Amino acid sequence: MYVCLCKSVTDHRIRGAVEQGARNWREVQQVTGCGTQCGKCSCMGKDITREAIQAE
Ligand code: FES
Repeated sequence: MYVCLCKSVTDHRIRGAVEQGARNWREVQQVTGCGTQCGKCSCMGKDITREAIQAE
């Protein structure tokens, strides 16, 4: 599912970033670009990041 349309970032991509070592939303943003344009996806991006970190 696409989370970020501006940067074409999927939930899978966010989870992948966490698997590869991103430890917070800021790091996920740096790796994927999610939420770095219009910002509308930030809420969902943060939630998915939090879930993925907790699941590790
Ligand atoms: Fe993610 Fe615009 S939808 S920055």
